[in-house]
Amino acid sequence: MQSKIVIIGVGSVGSTIAYALMIKSVARHIYLVDINSTKVKGEVLDLNHCKPYVSAVEIHQGTYLDCKDADIIIITAGAKQKPGETRVDLLTKNIKIMKGIVDEIKQNLFKNQPVILIISNPVDILTFFAHKFSELPKSKVFGSGTVLDSSRLRFEISNHCKINAKNIHGYVIGEHGDTELALWSTLTIGGMKFDEFCSQCVHNAEHKKRNIKDFIFQNVKNAAYQIIEAKGYTNFAIGLSTTRIVEAILGNQHSILPVSSILTGEYGYTGLSISLPCIVGSSGVEKILEPSLSNEEHQKFNKSVLHIKKLIEINEENGEF
Ligand SMILES: NC(=O)c1ccc[n+]([C@@H]2O[C@H](COP(=O)([O-])OP(=O)(O)OC[C@H]3O[C@@H](n4cnc5c(N)ncnc54)[C@H](O)[C@@H]3O)[C@@H](O)[C@H]2O)c1
Repeated sequence: MQSKIVIIGVGSVGSTIAYALMIKSVARHIYLVDINSTKVKGEVLDLNHCKPYVSAVEIHQGTYLDCKDADIIIITAGAKQKPGETRVDLLTKNIKIMKGIVDEIKQNLFKNQPVILIISNPVDILTFFAHKFSELPKSKVFGSGTVLDSSRLRFEISNHCKINAKNIHGYVIGEHGDTELALWSTLTIGGMKFDEFCSQCVHNAEHKKRNIKDFIFQNVKNAAYQIIEAKGYTNFAIGLSTTRIVEAILGNQHSILPVSSILTGEYGYTGLSISLPCIVGSSGVEKILEPSLSNEEHQKFNKSVLHIKKLIEINEENGEF
């Protein structure tokens, strides 16, 4: 398979995505691009030294010219918050960086329409603007969204119930951030609804002592804060979550993943990118699903939509984008 992936932004996240793609033999050619070309040189050398232990894969120092026949372009580039800088200032700065990157990509596309996968935060807002700048179809530009948060949810449940995380099917949806929500009403363990499973679980008595759903969800929502406080960045789980999305695209798997994509009227909303379970294959997002939500979930989802829309509007109103 002559698959070609370009990763733009080769910091902690971009380099770990390259490593995960490499050791899982997902892509044949991986091109790394960053404004810090010395760092890229070092990462390419280091990654190439893995070659005796992995299947055939070529890691290259790339340029935007490499986008011309890429299957997927992954964007992880972004600026970090500086002392005294507000979140909104940082967001505006990162939208500008995204515009610069997408303009470069556009100039270098040939006849191909690659999938552009956004990882940089805030991922929902940056996906909305990346799509707008790219002028590509909605299906082709989407973000990693709550794929990572959903794996955190599955881990937390598996840890508490002592069940293999692979037997837990459930999603976090909404913003990749503070307004996200867990879809408890559709979550299943071994085909059983969460509450039904709980009633038969040997850990049930212990869990009854506290609101276990709330406890688990707080751990999910605060995971990134905890990791960043301890080590300064998150990289491993986003590396594998991104690899999972890439596998679904390159393998045309029609996998259901909660990526952040531009809504086309789902639950009555348009004009933003947000996570819902989506069918993902070689053409990108094939379909956005609309699971039945409980009243509480619906209210939380509406709140998440409004939060994202407000941040989009603030940046659209200043006329720059
Ligand atoms: N979506 C998710 O689930 C998720 C998870 C973890 C991190 N992230 C986000 O990923 C992004 C990267 O995180 P990180 O820890 O790797 O940061 P980092 O600072 O280590 O890396 C960012 C890289 O972007 C590069 N860069 C900046 N401007 C650029 C430009 N114009 N063109 C090319 N490269 C440019 C920098 O040189 C740097 O190497 C952040 O926005 C972070 O919040 C998202």
